[in-house]
Amino acid sequence: MKKIVLCIIALMAVFLNPTWAQDLLFHEAKVRVGDDPSWKDPKFDDSGWETVSIHKLLHDQGISFPHTFAWYRIHFTPSPDLLKKSDLRQALIFNLGLIDDADQSYINGYFLGKTGRNPKDDGEEQSMWDTERVYVFGDASKINWGGDNVIAIRVYNGGDPGGMLSTGQGLIVPNLIDGINVAWEETDNPKAPQLLTCRITLLNKFAKAQKGKLKITFTDPETDKVLSKHEKDINLKGFRKTVFTTNYPKYKWSKVELVYIDKVYGKTRTFVHYPKYILTPKEPEKSRYNGAVVYGLRPGSPLIFRLPVSGVRPMRFSAENLPEGFHLDADKGILTGSTDKSGAYNITLKASNAYGSMEQKFTLKVDNNIGLTPAMGWNSWNCWGLSVSQDKVLSSAKALLDKGFGDYGYSYVIIDDSWEAKERKADGHIAANEKFPDMKGLGDWLHNSGLKLGIYSSPGAYTCGHYLGSLGHEMQDAETYNEWGVDYLKYDWCGYSEVWDTLKDQTVASYVRPYLLMEEKLRSQPRDIWYGLCQYGMGDVWRWGHAVDANSWRTTGDITDSWRSVCEIGFDAEANLYPYAEPGHWNDPDMLCVGKVGWGSMLRDTRLTTDEQYSHISLWALLAANMLIGCDLSQIDDFTQGLLCNNEVIAVDQDPLGKQAKRDVKDGDVQIWKRILSDGSYAVGIFNMSEEEMNIDFSKYFAQCGIHKLNSIRDLWRQQDLDTTKVTYHVAPHGVRFVRITCE
Ligand code: GLA
Repeated sequence: MKKIVLCIIALMAVFLNPTWAQDLLFHEAKVRVGDDPSWKDPKFDDSGWETVSIHKLLHDQGISFPHTFAWYRIHFTPSPDLLKKSDLRQALIFNLGLIDDADQSYINGYFLGKTGRNPKDDGEEQSMWDTERVYVFGDASKINWGGDNVIAIRVYNGGDPGGMLSTGQGLIVPNLIDGINVAWEETDNPKAPQLLTCRITLLNKFAKAQKGKLKITFTDPETDKVLSKHEKDINLKGFRKTVFTTNYPKYKWSKVELVYIDKVYGKTRTFVHYPKYILTPKEPEKSRYNGAVVYGLRPGSPLIFRLPVSGVRPMRFSAENLPEGFHLDADKGILTGSTDKSGAYNITLKASNAYGSMEQKFTLKVDNNIGLTPAMGWNSWNCWGLSVSQDKVLSSAKALLDKGFGDYGYSYVIIDDSWEAKERKADGHIAANEKFPDMKGLGDWLHNSGLKLGIYSSPGAYTCGHYLGSLGHEMQDAETYNEWGVDYLKYDWCGYSEVWDTLKDQTVASYVRPYLLMEEKLRSQPRDIWYGLCQYGMGDVWRWGHAVDANSWRTTGDITDSWRSVCEIGFDAEANLYPYAEPGHWNDPDMLCVGKVGWGSMLRDTRLTTDEQYSHISLWALLAANMLIGCDLSQIDDFTQGLLCNNEVIAVDQDPLGKQAKRDVKDGDVQIWKRILSDGSYAVGIFNMSEEEMNIDFSKYFAQCGIHKLNSIRDLWRQQDLDTTKVTYHVAPHGVRFVRITCE
C-alpha cells in the first residue's frame, strides 16, 4: 500500500468482522525483512528475530520494507480442550485479519492460504490490503495440541507502509455448521424487466458433508409481510456448493432471511440479506434537463458543454440569448465557443423530441472561477487500477454516452495513474506509454462527443504507481496536457514525499509550494484545466486549497468498497469541513465505489450492500462532492444506473449555491446531515448507521435541525412527496432516507 493510505489505516484499529468469536487470539509475532522459503519451517530457529505486534503496521514499529518481503512467525499453543468442544474436530479457521499488501501463509509448514499477488507471482502485482484473510485449514491432526505451533506469513509490501494490521486475529475451532457459507448475487432479468434474479450460493467450506434444511423467506421489511417462501433439503458433500435461483420484485425494498438447520447436530444458522432494489423512477421519454444550471469559464478559454438532457432521441436543441462567440449543435446538444468578455450570461436552453419539449435557465459565468459545481465523470482507478489502457478508457467513455450517463452531466473521462512512458523524450517532454497510442486522438474523440479528458500526475519524480511524475518538468507537462486537450489534472503527492522528507521547513508552506508551482503552469495554458489536488488532506488542505486555486482537494487517503471506508472518509472525515466548500473549490472525499470495481484487471461487484450504496451516493450529494464513477461502465446493471442517474439526487450535488452539508445530529446510530439549496429548501439525509433496521422519528430531531415547522417533504430517491405529519421512517441497516424539505 502506498503512503497515502496511511491515514485510513491508522483509523482502522477497530476491526470487526470475524464471523465467529475467536477461540484463541494472537497478538505478536517474530518478524524478519527478507525472503527465504525455509522460514516457513516450524522448526526454524527464529529466536534472534525481532518481536512485533501484529495489530500495527511494521512501518509504525520502525520497520520499513517497501517493494520487498518480510516474514512473520506467530507461535501459539492451543489447548486440547478447544478441539474437544467442537462437533467437527477436523477443520480449523485462522483469521489473520488485514495484511498489506499480499501474503502467502503456512501453518506448521503446510500451505494455509494466499491473497493478492507479489511481483514474483504470475500476472500483475495486486495489493489486497483491504481483504480479510480468513483461511480454512482442513486437518486438525497437523496441529500440536498443547504444544508449540507456527503460522508463517510471507508478506509482500508494494510500497510503505506494509505488514499485518487490525485486531482480533486468532484461531477458531469451528462446529460443522460453521462450514456453511452463503454468497448472494442479483442480476437483471432480461426476460422480465420488473424482476431481478437472485442467486443464492450455499457453500460447504469443510470436507465433511453437510445435511440439513434450508428455509428462504422474502419479506417486506416495512410491513413484515411474507412475499415468498421456499424450502429445500440440503445434502452438500465436502467443498461443494449448490445454487438456488429465484426472482423477486425489482422496484421494492425486500429482505431475505435464510435459515439453515443442520440435521446431524440440530444446530441452526441464520443469514440476512437485503437484495438490490431500484428506487429511481423510470426515465421519462420526454426531454428533461438533469444537470448543472451554472458553468464557469475563463475569458478566452474554449467551452465544451454537453447539455445534460435525457429523453428519446432524435432530439433538437436550441438556445436563447446565446452570447456572441458560442454555438450550440442542434443535433448533438453540445455547446462550444469562447469569449474574452467577462460576465454572467443568462441563457435559455431548449430541447424537444417526439414526446415533448423542455426549457432550462442556465448561466454561463465568464470570469476566473471555474468548477462552479462539483465535477461529474468517470475515473479509471477504482476499476482498472494500473491495468488501465486507452481501449478500456474508450469503452467506458462510449458506454457513458450509449447508456445515457452523459444525459445526467457525467462528462470528465479521467485517466488515472499508469499512462506514462518509462522515460521522457530527449527534450524532456512527457510521453504516453504503449497502452495509450494516441492521447491527442482520445482527447479529440472525447471533445467531439461533448466529453472532457482528464489525466494524472505527481509533483514528485514518481507517481504512486512508480510512473514518471512532473518534478522539474511542470511547464513542459502543462504544455503537453494542453496539446492533448486535457481538461482535468489529478495531481497526486506520492513521490513528492522524497523531496519533502529532505526539507528543513516542513510547515504548511512546504505542502503548498509544489501545488502552487503547477497551478501557475496550468493557468498559463490557453484552456481551462480542473485542478484536482490529491495529497490526502495533509496540512489541512481545505484551509489553503483555495489559495492554489484548486477546484477540489482530496481530504483523506484512498477509499475502498467497504462500509468502514465510507464511514471514515465520508461520515467522519467530512463532518467539520462544510465551511471550506464553495463554488469553484470543493472538498473531495474520493471517487465512487458502486458497480464493478477492482483496482486491477479483475473486477468484482462492489462489496457495499445495497443500502450502503444508497447511503454512499446520498452522502456524496450532500457533501457537494465530485461524482466520479469508479466502475466499468460497459458492465453496468440497472440498479447501479438508477443510483447514478437520479436527477433529483444529482440536483442536490450540483446545486448552484454550493453549500456542503453539516451534520446536525449524531445520536447513537442516527445521523442527520442537512444542506441548504439555492431555492431555500434543504436536502436532508437521515442515516441509520446501525446493523439493524431502525424506526427513526425525524420530528424528534426537528429542533436540532433548526426546523420549526415542516411545510413539505419529498423523498429524493423515490421522487415522491411524503406526508408531513408522518415522519417516522423505517430505515435499513446502514441505509438512508434522503429527502428535500421546505420549512420555517
Ligand atoms: C493514490 C491516489 C489514488 C490513485 C493512485 C494511483 O493512491 O490516492 O486515487 O490515483 O494513487 O497510483
